[in-house]
Amino acid sequence: MAESREIYQLGSPIIRSVALEVVDVQSDEIQTLIDDMIVTCKASKGVGIAAPQLGISQAIVIIASYPSERYPNAPLMEPTALSNPKIIAHAPTLHKDWEGCLSLPGIRAKVPRYTQIEVAYTSREGHAKRVTYNDFLARIFQHEYDHLIGKVFIDRIESTLDVVMEKEYQRIMEEAKNERQKQK
Ligand code: NI
Repeated sequence: MAESREIYQLGSPIIRSVALEVVDVQSDEIQTLIDDMIVTCKASKGVGIAAPQLGISQAIVIIASYPSERYPNAPLMEPTALSNPKIIAHAPTLHKDWEGCLSLPGIRAKVPRYTQIEVAYTSREGHAKRVTYNDFLARIFQHEYDHLIGKVFIDRIESTLDVVMEKEYQRIMEEAKNERQKQK
């Protein structure tokens, strides 16, 4: 049975480490890890997670977007496991938007990310795949990929003024929502 695991927080050395390449995606150990990552991501209401966040140095990320109040247009998808992902190409354009992270609870920041990104990876069935992610999915992927190279989202900010605490973030979101309703 897949089970939710502990999420390692910023300060744990694993969060700052480069993840090891996955050698055998189809091994029982890796398949169980992927199942546990999906369950942990869901239990935490995350839209993505990376193996180092569970304390495991393996180059695996899960992308698990679903529509929410904050992202009503986010695509609903089956959680996808990408092993040994490599960035093949990206759009020239960066777009700045809010991010949070299960390893840095309570903090939100505006982070510039490429609006489109092409990725090569190994599927959980062991197949070599390519995928192009746009907008929100491209953002999730870049955030999770960073976890595989020991980076976290606050490393990518343009200004320290773009970092806020959760309570203030909720207030900012509320104001933005009211502003949108006024314009209707
Ligand atoms: Ni994260």
